[in-house]
Amino acid sequence: MPNARASVPDFLYGTAWKEDRTAALTELAIRAGFRAIDTANQRRHYFEAGVGQGLAAAYRAGLFTRADLFLQTKFTYQAGQDHRLPYDPAATLSIQVAQSMASSLEHLGVDHVDSFVLHGPASRSHWTTDDFETWQAMIKERDAGRTRLLGVSNISLAQLQQMARAHAEPPAFVQNRCYAIRGWDRDVRAFCRERNIIYQGFSLLTANIEVLRHSTVAALAAQNNATPAQIIFAFARAVGMLPLTGTTNADHMKQDLESRFLELPPDAVNAIEKIAG
Ligand SMILES: NC(=O)c1ccc[n+]([C@@H]2O[C@H](COP(=O)([O-])OP(=O)(O)OC[C@H]3O[C@@H](n4cnc5c(N)ncnc54)[C@H](OP(=O)(O)O)[C@@H]3O)[C@@H](O)[C@H]2O)c1
Repeated sequence: MPNARASVPDFLYGTAWKEDRTAALTELAIRAGFRAIDTANQRRHYFEAGVGQGLAAAYRAGLFTRADLFLQTKFTYQAGQDHRLPYDPAATLSIQVAQSMASSLEHLGVDHVDSFVLHGPASRSHWTTDDFETWQAMIKERDAGRTRLLGVSNISLAQLQQMARAHAEPPAFVQNRCYAIRGWDRDVRAFCRERNIIYQGFSLLTANIEVLRHSTVAALAAQNNATPAQIIFAFARAVGMLPLTGTTNADHMKQDLESRFLELPPDAVNAIEKIAG
């Protein structure tokens, strides 16, 4: 497996819930400096073809080449979709994976993506035979050169352990919602760290409103001439996460990217970890 960390930018721009603003916001994010885009072939929450339109506009403006970009998309089971499916629901899961990937490449106007993520296991409680078949099909896509790397999302520690027992091939990425009240997904992050899996954290702001308002974060923001949101992103990076933001605001895009240059000392990182458990 290629060294994932060597080729991944340090912030992911997320394109969920942007509907007819997807193309314009994707282009704006690239203009702001993002070079990594997260999407999914799940029309219910993402407009992947709109991401492709935004990329095309940015290419035309000469802002970058495909090689400068990190593109991540996802395979979503039918249970997570609405009626706008990117595959034949009567087909086997292996074929659905291949059809979803072919449709993603067409939406994005590329011959390969950089990361292909299983949006979530088929069951909340364990790694199922469906997940086994799907992961094997995703490996085939990778081996055929249609993605460089593979990932899983919305996954628990127990499922990661089952997955590790079932497959020789581990994911390069885990993408999870990161709640401070659950120790910022501490157990899953530890599992990832031990195996050199990159942990992508989403909902860092929206799942942790009370932390954003906490006096410790307010004091750190004041000391560093930063916003509370920037402190949370700097914290996420300090504990080894690759953060996502889906901001729709040009100033926030700039602030989120600037948080990369904010180094929090260990005592500040410990203090934030202690806020919520
Ligand atoms: N794998 C999955 O199942 C899954 C699920 C959910 C999300 N995701 C991915 O993660 C991405 C991010 O989603 P998210 O849940 O983290 O939420 P989000 O869509 O990034 O929302 C973040 C919220 O924080 C605000 N915000 C961002 N930067 C800010 C700043 N500097 N100062 C103040 N407010 C700021 C945004 O408001 P403004 O727009 O006004 O800035 C928005 O209300 C999604 O687009 C998607 O790609 C994946």
